[in-house]
Amino acid sequence: MVHAAFSHTVDSAPLESWRRKLLAIVGHQYGSFVSSASFVAEVSSGQLAGTVLVTDFARYQAPVIALIAVSPGVQDKGVGFYLLRRSLQALAIEGFPKCRAKISPGNNASLQLFRNAGFELCRVEPKSSQQGHNRSTS
Ligand SMILES: CC(C)(COP(=O)(O)OP(=O)(O)OC[C@H]1O[C@@H](n2cnc3c(N)ncnc32)[C@H](O)[C@@H]1OP(=O)(O)O)[C@@H](O)C(=O)NCCC(=O)NCCS
Repeated sequence: MVHAAFSHTVDSAPLESWRRKLLAIVGHQYGSFVSSASFVAEVSSGQLAGTVLVTDFARYQAPVIALIAVSPGVQDKGVGFYLLRRSLQALAIEGFPKCRAKISPGNNASLQLFRNAGFELCRVEPKSSQQGHNRSTS
């Protein structure tokens, strides 16, 4: 699902890369995996509609939305917004008032999603730096 969700974005990557990334996220390689603020959404048939995965990465001094993805067939219907708000709500209950995310330049759907959820752009990394991503906080 994640591979398909990203396939038409600037963050498109081979299936194997996504498999490794997901294992790294839940395997605590991007900081502790925060399962209490990570969710999946399913459609009524039980099929996976989307996911949001959160880690607590010391380098960012706040929890990070390590990954959010919605299945292509149900994108632009509010699932991503619901997942993100649900995750922020869970983090707030656990005492985390701030959260960060990295957004690749050109990923307009993602930028809009995070803006809608109250994130503010706090830093734009130059292209020459590691991944050339923007970072937003909420
Ligand atoms: C980004 C993503 C998670 C958003 O989830 P979603 O369920 O499609 O989004 P929502 O329906 O909740 O809408 C969120 C906002 O994004 C906008 N949006 C959705 N698809 C869009 C697109 N293709 N282009 C531009 N904006 C788009 C919506 O219009 C909405 O903003 P609005 O209400 O102001 O119009 C989803 O599009 C996705 O999985 N994309 C591929 C993976 C990805 O890029 N993840 C983010 C990595 S940081």
